[in-house]
Amino acid sequence: MERTCLAIILAAGESTRMKSAMSKVLHPVAGRPMIAHVVDALASASISDVALVVGRDADAVSAAAATDEVAVTSFLQKERLGTAHAVLAAREAIAKGYDDVLVVFGDTPLITAAPLKAARDGLAAGNDVVVIGFQAADPTGYGRLIVKDGALVAIREHRDASDEERRITYCNGGLMAIDGRKALDLLDRIGNANAKGEYYLTDLVEIARSLDGRAIAVEAPEEELTGCNTRAELAYIERLWQQRRRHELMLAGVSMIAPETVFLSWDTALAQDVLLEPNVVFGPGVRVESGAVIHAFSHLEGAHVRAGATVGPFARLRPGADIGAKSKVGNFCEVKNAEIGAGAKVNHLTYIGDAVVGAGSNIGAGTITCNYDGVNKHVTRIGANAFVGSNSSLVAPVSIGDGALVASGSVITEDVPADAVAFGRARQDVKPGRAPILRERYEAEKAARKRAKAAE
Ligand code: UD1
Ligand code: CA
Repeated sequence: MERTCLAIILAAGESTRMKSAMSKVLHPVAGRPMIAHVVDALASASISDVALVVGRDADAVSAAAATDEVAVTSFLQKERLGTAHAVLAAREAIAKGYDDVLVVFGDTPLITAAPLKAARDGLAAGNDVVVIGFQAADPTGYGRLIVKDGALVAIREHRDASDEERRITYCNGGLMAIDGRKALDLLDRIGNANAKGEYYLTDLVEIARSLDGRAIAVEAPEEELTGCNTRAELAYIERLWQQRRRHELMLAGVSMIAPETVFLSWDTALAQDVLLEPNVVFGPGVRVESGAVIHAFSHLEGAHVRAGATVGPFARLRPGADIGAKSKVGNFCEVKNAEIGAGAKVNHLTYIGDAVVGAGSNIGAGTITCNYDGVNKHVTRIGANAFVGSNSSLVAPVSIGDGALVASGSVITEDVPADAVAFGRARQDVKPGRAPILRERYEAEKAARKRAKAAE
């Protein structure tokens, strides 16, 4: 039978060093609260029962952790007396009786399923406590893992460690798995006689051993255990996240000319054979289909770019932009809540908002859908194979029929039927031979001004 598991996320910290009006676990990594990344890792490790220990900003943290796949129950830790005290805030959940209890931190968003699974495997193999460790480039501040003959003997917090122990680089990542049947008994035995006067979760190792139990450490990459305490660490975590995700996408068939300049969102979906030029930024909710090219310096958010379409350079796609197959949205164009039909072209300096552009239509440079009257938004509908001349203003609500032709510089305020030609501007007035006469008059006026000035 499959072993049952309760994961406990500790997220009751004050976040003092973040210097922020909100708890650090609410700060976004790749556009999504840190805590949601942790819940996601639990979900991908097939863990569906989660206890969340909250303190500061309890309601907001609980809301940010809520997902469809995982049932998250929040527990309030009223006083912050240490990691073991925090785990015991979820006593009620632990008491339900699980095979495995897994403790993770809300400020460690790069954790993946693999070390969590390895820790649970350690319990299944008969250990009482399995600690997720890492080789620290700089172990300062971390609890050190004291390992003898393959067994984990103790975890010594930095402040409590001897000089010799401080030379150990194998460190406690903070995450651990505990035999669920023994967890409450072991946790209740933890005291606070240490340098910080806190109830240390790490004491579990020695306590379990003193009761003839077994403890081991499993090693995970340091990157996955990177914790966030300051804004500088937040930026570092963002960088690691971006690197990891770009790499995954490239291995999945996405080309990036300068990957280090591409910024992805947690949910950016890029199909095989998408090409990203340098300096492309994705906000949340973007999907790009196969063969599409996103040219340099484009910003996309809540957009769907269909197969073979090209976007940019310097394009902005806002929520609800649906860019049709093989269509083009060119430089300095903005598209919001609008459908660009298959093969349509919106090439230069254009705003298309709250609109539908039919397949094969061509929207001339500088065209603007005037979608907002200061109070309400209105829709512009352009049919298939229409042509809108440059620098036209389409004052919504308005529609332009299939195959219609709008003269450049038009202000279109009334519907244009299919195949009609619309001149939404005054006709050009040409006076042959008039230019030299005007020039002569202007010269005379200039000379008169000069004379008047000299006479002053
Ligand atoms: C902890 C470990 C240390 C390990 C390090 C890895 C202990 C005693 N020490 O140290 O061995 O190397 O993590 O980063 O476990 N929290 C609460 N309530 C509390 C105390 C903490 O919710 O009363 C939460 C914090 O918000 C944080 C996590 O628990 O997410 C870890 O607490 P923190 O005080 O940062 O532990 P460290 O001193 O970093
Ligand atoms: Ca910490």
